Amino acid sequence: MVNPPLSLYIHIPWCVQKCPYCDFNSHGQKHDLPEATYVQHLLDDLATDARLIGNREVGTIFIGGGTPSLFSPDAIDRLLNGVAERVNLSNSAEITLEANPGTVESEKFIGFRQAGVNRISIGVQSFQTQKLSALGRIHDSAQAQAAAGYARAAGLNSFNLDLMHGLPDQTLDDALEDLSKAIEQAPPHLSWYQLTIEPNTQFASKPPVLPEDDTLWDIQEQGHAMLAAAGYEQYEISGYSKAGMQCQHNLNYWRFGDYLGIGCGAHGKITQADKGTITRTVKVKHPKGYMDLTRSYMDNQWQVDADELPFEFFMNRLRLVEACPIDDYAAYTGLSLTKEQLSQLASAVDKGLLSQSQHHWQVTPLGRRYLNSLLEMFV
Ligand SMILES: C[S@@+](CC[C@H](N)C(=O)[O-])C[C@H]1O[C@@H](n2cnc3c(N)ncnc32)[C@H](O)[C@@H]1O
Ligand code: SF4
Repeated sequence: MVNPPLSLYIHIPWCVQKCPYCDFNSHGQKHDLPEATYVQHLLDDLATDARLIGNREVGTIFIGGGTPSLFSPDAIDRLLNGVAERVNLSNSAEITLEANPGTVESEKFIGFRQAGVNRISIGVQSFQTQKLSALGRIHDSAQAQAAAGYARAAGLNSFNLDLMHGLPDQTLDDALEDLSKAIEQAPPHLSWYQLTIEPNTQFASKPPVLPEDDTLWDIQEQGHAMLAAAGYEQYEISGYSKAGMQCQHNLNYWRFGDYLGIGCGAHGKITQADKGTITRTVKVKHPKGYMDLTRSYMDNQWQVDADELPFEFFMNRLRLVEACPIDDYAAYTGLSLTKEQLSQLASAVDKGLLSQSQHHWQVTPLGRRYLNSLLEMFV
């Protein structure tokens, strides 16, 4: 067993308002954000977690939310300086910050860049005003387009646009028009998510009319072809990028790497190879409880059982298009494949869901389409 590469996730739990489809741990609040207090809590939380990692190098940081771009560049600067004081941060770390186009202007992106952020992920969702309002977004199409320009002007060459499809009343043409507008902005990375109706959201209690399955299928097929023709390579279910511009932070999750998770409700996974353990951590979810000094930031912490590891490993690895080194299984889980698992893998190869060479497994296009049945083998 080895300690895999290490990342750091930082959660900022506030947004201007809650979007009706979103089940992320986020709370609507535009004014009076407890910015300075929360940054100090994040750093205290990190100082406690840092004991789990010793001097291991942190290779990527992702500041997600919620809407981290609600915070000022000064607060992000204090946060990143504080992180560098508490952990061994790589000089070439990818540092991403999520931004909502309704909360940014040009100077803010320049400020984030000066604070050390080198990648911005912009939540565009759609370029059609009617769709944006159906999604309860706080920005219009013009702001969505402007945000990509600010990112580029600030010298943030590595930026991502989040786009969703399968939106209420969306036609194939609507979806392709959105993609083509996104491609016009030439983002080095594009996350293209299919809208899902999540329990306990406004959309779950008042479901909008979504496109039929046939339309969704056409959107997937033709959208994928459009992205490929524009030079975007799919490297994960919803992740597309220009060559070499994949999100290193997300790649590390899917390669079953380690990550500390600080902030409200953040999850972490830490391997301690010397002890042969993998620990999962979850922080207190609600901002009030998280910032309550009378209790710990940690809500739950446990060691992952060996019998859960095969599923966890493959669930992450098989999301990726890239081939998976067979040796990573033993190195990252500390386990050897059982006879039963070897025969399941062989059967997946027979069914055309997986290909196998001497040193690698790779999920096939058919396997990606039937990913759930492929993963059931490892439950
Ligand atoms: C934390 S949000 C991103 C940043 C920022 N909060 C924003 O919305 O602009 C992460 C992304 O997940 C996607 N997302 C959120 N809820 C979703 C859902 N129900 N179905 C599909 N994608 C969703 C959106 O594309 C969103 O931009
Ligand atoms: S989608 Fe983004 S802006 Fe909307 S509520 Fe969720 S985290 Fe906040």
